[in-house]
Amino acid sequence: MGDKPKYYLTTPIYYTNGLPHIGHTYSTIVCDTIRRYKRMRGFDVVMTTGTDEHGVNVERSAQKAGVPESEYVAKMAAEWKKLWDELGLQADEFVRTTDLKHAHTVQWLFKLCRENGYIYPGHYTGQYCIYDNAYVDVKAGEACPDCGRPTETVTEANFYFKLSAFQKPLLDFYKKNPHFIQPDTRRNEILSFVEGGLRDLSITRTSIRWGIPVPGEEKHVFYVWFDALSAYLTAVGGPNYAQRGYWPADLHLVGKEIIRFHAVYWPAFLMAAMLPLPEQIWAHGWLLMDNSKMSKSVGNVVRPRPIVDVLGMDALRYYLLRETVFGQDGNFSYEALIQRYNSDLANGLGNLASRTAALVEKYFAGRVPKPAALEPQDEALAKETQTAIAEVLEQYEAFGFSRALERIWSVVAAADKYLTSEQPWAGGTTDAEQSRRAAVLWTTAELLRAVVVLAHPVLPDCTVKVWTLLGAPGKIGAQDLGSLAWGGLAPGTALGKSQPLFPRIEKKEAQERMEAMENEAQNAPSPVGASAAAATPAAGTAPVAAGTVAGTAPAATEKIGIEDFTKVEMRVGQIKTAERIVGADKLLKLTVDIGTEIRQICAGIAQFYEPEKLIGRKVAVVVNLAPRKLRGVESNGMIVAASVGPEGRPVLAGFPDEDVEVGARLR
Ligand code: MSP
Repeated sequence: MGDKPKYYLTTPIYYTNGLPHIGHTYSTIVCDTIRRYKRMRGFDVVMTTGTDEHGVNVERSAQKAGVPESEYVAKMAAEWKKLWDELGLQADEFVRTTDLKHAHTVQWLFKLCRENGYIYPGHYTGQYCIYDNAYVDVKAGEACPDCGRPTETVTEANFYFKLSAFQKPLLDFYKKNPHFIQPDTRRNEILSFVEGGLRDLSITRTSIRWGIPVPGEEKHVFYVWFDALSAYLTAVGGPNYAQRGYWPADLHLVGKEIIRFHAVYWPAFLMAAMLPLPEQIWAHGWLLMDNSKMSKSVGNVVRPRPIVDVLGMDALRYYLLRETVFGQDGNFSYEALIQRYNSDLANGLGNLASRTAALVEKYFAGRVPKPAALEPQDEALAKETQTAIAEVLEQYEAFGFSRALERIWSVVAAADKYLTSEQPWAGGTTDAEQSRRAAVLWTTAELLRAVVVLAHPVLPDCTVKVWTLLGAPGKIGAQDLGSLAWGGLAPGTALGKSQPLFPRIEKKEAQERMEAMENEAQNAPSPVGASAAAATPAAGTAPVAAGTVAGTAPAATEKIGIEDFTKVEMRVGQIKTAERIVGADKLLKLTVDIGTEIRQICAGIAQFYEPEKLIGRKVAVVVNLAPRKLRGVESNGMIVAASVGPEGRPVLAGFPDEDVEVGARLR
């Protein structure tokens, strides 16, 4: 890559005990956008992503799927990689934490920390959150303060990392590098965390097997965060990082819930090993669905595939980056997505490009006309575009994606207004009229050229199409954004092939199609083993407890005590009404009398039960499940069913032989 300055950025290394939803996709899209942007600013860029494949969570998911861990993670990692490839999110490096070369990095890092005196042996008893893979500061029996899920008491022999020794060095470092943690809210959060004192950190485990072995200590495996963070180094050479020259990383992009691992632990490990520290950790906010963080455990996830199949990848990228202010939380809704698609992409950019091309075709035989004399309004538009170029680049530099896009689209709107007032389609073809028309169409085409170059990092597909349409030379992705200036489109250039950009779409139909596909995806069997999906119910399958309460899934290896069982309150309910849900062909909306009240419950049984035949039927209902929304419909409880056969056909549990009272408890 010659003398280009290097730029190295990373996505989080994603857990393999689930498949990507649009929250993960958001992180990868942001990185991909920065990668494209930096390339267009003349950097030699490397982007790393990968899969975090060790730890107790994965161990349990593999057990539930009934396959060895290595098989489980290999299949899941392949799914992640395939999806990123299909979505055009091609990182330069994909690290799997089960790669041998990664084990070497982790062991080397540990060795360096140990040689430098920052590792010592000890014992630890504490509450551990298996979901966040972290010890948490709560009493036995209390829930995780970060995610609210149950914690487990763990006692083990382990090696400690002397994190306490890094309080001052870290605070000094943050002070000297005020932009190390972004945005400022996160920086302040971390500052007060570190100022509050740091306790040494247990960085090995003897209570689990599925991890990278600690050299010479065969009972120990590495703590998943010590393991996963090191993947950033593995990707660019591990112990030989100096040869490739990409370390230290310029940017670790993460979600806000993992900022502490990146902004405290990771720099401390690197300081202990005397390795260079990354330049910046940027924590973005969460995508929310129905006001809570989109996550598999909540069951409110939306997958990228259905959206991309219906609206295209550019639409998803545009929506996510335009609608959410980078660094803050953002709400996902199909409605807003389709609205953006129609107004900004179909009616905005798409319409401007096709209108301009059609007029150049009609009046100038498909060649970009030469402007003879420019009027003040042409020059004003040129000036406006030139100003926008500078402002957009400033926004990109600060990762202000939504503002950058807003500014680009203000230029699109200005061009629309200009066309409407200049009316290059009106009038005849006298020399004077053609000359005026030439100035207007050249100005519009040139504006389009600038717009698509500016938008390319966010919208890599449609901008290539417009670039081709304009007959512009070279590759759009190879344009130098830093020297983008008004006036680059040569008159006389022959227009290229016209390809469909953003066909307008009917809102209701698009939403129904996406939701139906989403439902199907959620009900599809997991790529690994028969019951992996049941281990962590997804939104569409959850109302029928396939494989969790009763079913064909292999028996869980762990036993639970009666106190765990009694936490689940099940009662006899009687179905009062049942109806189908538009756009969700697997779900029925039921109202169920549970003795004390009538509940609305969604159940994933629509393909096997006629709604009208269910009325009056007595069923087993889990009544103390937290309410949630499925396909936008509130579900307050869960109907219990067996899951039968390979396709998991639901068969409702019931009481055919005795007359049971509604509301009676199942114990
Ligand atoms: N394996 C760890 C990361 C180790 S990095 C050395 C992990 N993995 S994860 O699969 O849970 O991915 C977490 C990341 O996915 C978040 O930090 C964030 O980047 C992204 N997101 C997951 N859910 C999200 C939302 N609902 N919204 C936005 N991003 C989210 O943590």
